[in-house]
Amino acid sequence: MSTVNSDKLSSARFAQATNAFVEVFTASVDFDKRMAEQDIQGSIAHATMLSACGILTGQECDAIIEGLSRIRQEIGSGQFTWSIKQEDVHMNIEARLTDLIGIAGKKLHTGRSRNDQVATDIRLYLRSEISHISDQLIRLQTAILNLAEQTADTIMPGFTHLQVAQPITFGHHLMAWFEMLNRDHERLQDCCKRINIMPLGAAALAGTSYPINRFMTAELLGFSRPSANSLDSVSDRDFAIEFTAAASLIMMHLSRFSEELILWSSAQFDFIDIPDAFCTGSSIMPQKKNPDVPELVRGKSGRVTGHLVSLLMLMKSQPLAYNKDNQEDKEPLFDTVDTVINCLRAYADMMPHITPKKANMYTSAKRGFATATDLADYLVRKGMAFRDAHEVVGLAVRLGVDTGRDLSEIALTELQQFSSLISDDVFEYLTLEGSVAARSHIGGTAPDTVRAAIDTARKNLTDASKNQ
Ligand code: ARG
Repeated sequence: MSTVNSDKLSSARFAQATNAFVEVFTASVDFDKRMAEQDIQGSIAHATMLSACGILTGQECDAIIEGLSRIRQEIGSGQFTWSIKQEDVHMNIEARLTDLIGIAGKKLHTGRSRNDQVATDIRLYLRSEISHISDQLIRLQTAILNLAEQTADTIMPGFTHLQVAQPITFGHHLMAWFEMLNRDHERLQDCCKRINIMPLGAAALAGTSYPINRFMTAELLGFSRPSANSLDSVSDRDFAIEFTAAASLIMMHLSRFSEELILWSSAQFDFIDIPDAFCTGSSIMPQKKNPDVPELVRGKSGRVTGHLVSLLMLMKSQPLAYNKDNQEDKEPLFDTVDTVINCLRAYADMMPHITPKKANMYTSAKRGFATATDLADYLVRKGMAFRDAHEVVGLAVRLGVDTGRDLSEIALTELQQFSSLISDDVFEYLTLEGSVAARSHIGGTAPDTVRAAIDTARKNLTDASKNQ
C-alpha cells in the first residue's frame, strides 16, 4: 500500500497531500518550539511511567530517554532542524526521536495524544515562567522598599482628582505601589494552584485503555495531582486566561506607576529625577530628556489586556473537547510572559536610581492648602460641627488665595475673625509635619507608621521569596 504524503500526520487516512498553503497555515512549530524543554520533560516522565507500568520495556524507555536527552542538547546548541512538515513542537521532537532510536521512538506516543501533551506542556511552561515573573516582582518590590525607607518622612502633596488634597509622605505613596505589587504576587501564586494540575493521561479526550499510572507521572513532573476529568483537561484554557488576567493587572499597575513617574519628572512637577540611562533625548529639541521607560511600559500595558481579551474570545463557545482553535492560545500567552517580564525588569533596574527631589515636593505641598482638612478637624475637636468647620475653613482658604498665602502663613488674629475657637495652638496642626504626624493609625501616612509598614513588608517579602 502506498501513502500519498509520507510526511503527513496519520497519512494513511488521506488520499491527498496537504495543500501547501494549508500546511504553512496550520503549522505552529515556529512559535510552539518555545515549549521544547517542557515537551521533553513531559515525554521523559510519560516514558518512565509507561515502563514502570509494563507498557514499554526498560530498554525502550532507556533508549527514549537517551534520545530525548540528545535532542535537548541539539536544540540547546542550535543544531536541531525544525520543520513545518512536522507541524508542531511535539511532532518535530517525536520524528527526530524516531530518526535517532528507531521503533522505540514510535512507541512513545502510546497512551497519550497531542491534546493532553500540549495542555501539559503549557502548564509546565507557565509554572516555570511564573517563577521568573515572581523573581522580577520581588526585585522591584525590594527597590520600592529601599526608596520608601529613605523617604518615610519626605513630605509631598497627596492628590485626589490630581489636585492637591492633603500632605502625605513620599514613602507612604511608594508603599501604595508596594501593596499593589503584593496583591499581584499573591494572584500569581494563587493561579499557580490551578495551573499545577496534570492533564497527561487524558489522551485525546476520553482517557486511554492502557493501564497507566497518572499519579506517578504527576509526581515525576511536580504536579500536585492528575486532572479529574479528561474532557475538561484537554480543552479548557481557563488557567492561561487566569494567568493573563493576573498579568494584565500587573501591567495596569505598572501603567499607573508610569503615569506618576512621567508627571513627577516633568518640569511642572519636578519631584524626581529619572537617571539618563533610562531616558532618551529628542532628535530635534536639544533640551529634551524623555522618560521613555515609563512611557513604553504604559504603552505595553494595552497589549497585555488585548491578549486577555483574545484568549477569552478564543475559549468562548468552544464545544468540548479539544479544538484546533486552541493552538491560537500560544502567541498571546508567550507575548504576555515576555512583556510582563521585560517591563518588570526595566522597572526593577530603574527604581534604585530614581532620585526624589525632596525640597520641590515640600514646596509644592505648601502651595495647595493641603492642611485645610487639618484646620477643619481642629475646629471639630474644639466642639464645632464638621459641616460648619468646613465652611469656616473655606473662608480661610479664600483669604489665603486672595492674599497669596498658605494657611500656616495667615496671622492668628486674621484666622480668629472666622471662628473664636481658633487659638495659637492651631499652627502645630497647620504645618505639613503636624498634618502627616497626626495620621499615625495603621495604614496612615505618619513617618513612624510608614517605617513600621516598611518593616512588616520587608519581613513578608523575605518570607515570600523563600517560599518561591
Ligand atoms: N499544535 C497543537 C496545539 O497547539 C497541538 C495539539 C494538536 N492536536 C490535534 N489533535 N490536532 O494545540
